[in-house]
Amino acid sequence: MNFKDNPLVVGGLNTVRRWRETRRLRRVPRVQCPTEALASIDESRVRSILADPGIAAEWPAIATELATLGITEEAHGVNPGDRRALYYLVRATRPARVLEIGTHIGASTVHIAAALRATARDGSAPLRLTTVDILPVNDPTARLWERYGSRHSPATMVQRLGVGDIVEFKTAPAEAFLAAAPGKYDFIFLDGDHAAAAVYRELSTASAKLAPGGLIVLHDYFPGGQPLWPGSPVIPGPWLATERLVAEGAKLRVLPLGDLPWPTKLGGNTTSLAVVAKAT
Ligand SMILES: C[S@@+](CC[C@H](N)C(=O)[O-])C[C@H]1O[C@@H](n2cnc3c(N)ncnc32)[C@H](O)[C@@H]1O
Repeated sequence: MNFKDNPLVVGGLNTVRRWRETRRLRRVPRVQCPTEALASIDESRVRSILADPGIAAEWPAIATELATLGITEEAHGVNPGDRRALYYLVRATRPARVLEIGTHIGASTVHIAAALRATARDGSAPLRLTTVDILPVNDPTARLWERYGSRHSPATMVQRLGVGDIVEFKTAPAEAFLAAAPGKYDFIFLDGDHAAAAVYRELSTASAKLAPGGLIVLHDYFPGGQPLWPGSPVIPGPWLATERLVAEGAKLRVLPLGDLPWPTKLGGNTTSLAVVAKAT
């Protein structure tokens, strides 16, 4: 067994990571997190979205098409089951303006873009996805996607889907982008810097950029700071950040998606996706 796979080592590293993140988060000055615009969504609505028969009927064709893009399943991209859940969430809530923080290899980007394309075909217009990364994910010289094992750049993939005109790529630190963003978004997917301090500030700024009834979705949310997969590493940041916001009085509630109706990774259906809803 690899040293890093030893459950005792993983458990120890999880404890150290949580302690370090907690300490760093404590040093961040308090921010206001406006929650008025957050969607009043509950667990049963989320469950019904994931079980939507109309979306399930269109999914096989979408999955086949997206599989031709050759997106790697390694390299910290959102796993295939989570990508499918994102497709369902975007498809069901029909946002006009979507913001993604953390483009990386574009795994989640193309699933969100495909959902917007399907909604546009239903007759909604105009739709827009802005995706932000601190790294130049489409740079033709750096070719980061190849370094991670993907076949095409995120920009090439959205062009192949025929949605190059509705997706814009921005290279910027998330906080700076969010602070300067001129408009409001109906759907924000936060999958950038996972450090507690960063998520604490980003979630607050993102909430201020949300259109009424908008949805914020987090990736790598580990409820209770506990492993989602037995003996596996925990990313404590998103959970610690939301715990602090709630402790400071932010009227929000995090709804972990828990087990999806389809496989995610490590032989199970568990996801780290979570919806941020208005507390009732
Ligand atoms: C886990 S990856 C995102 C995976 C992506 N959603 C996908 O499915 O391919 C996190 C990404 O966030 C980016 N990132 C990290 N810190 C950031 C920041 N402060 N602002 C913007 N992007 C950031 C990283 O460069 C990395 O590409």
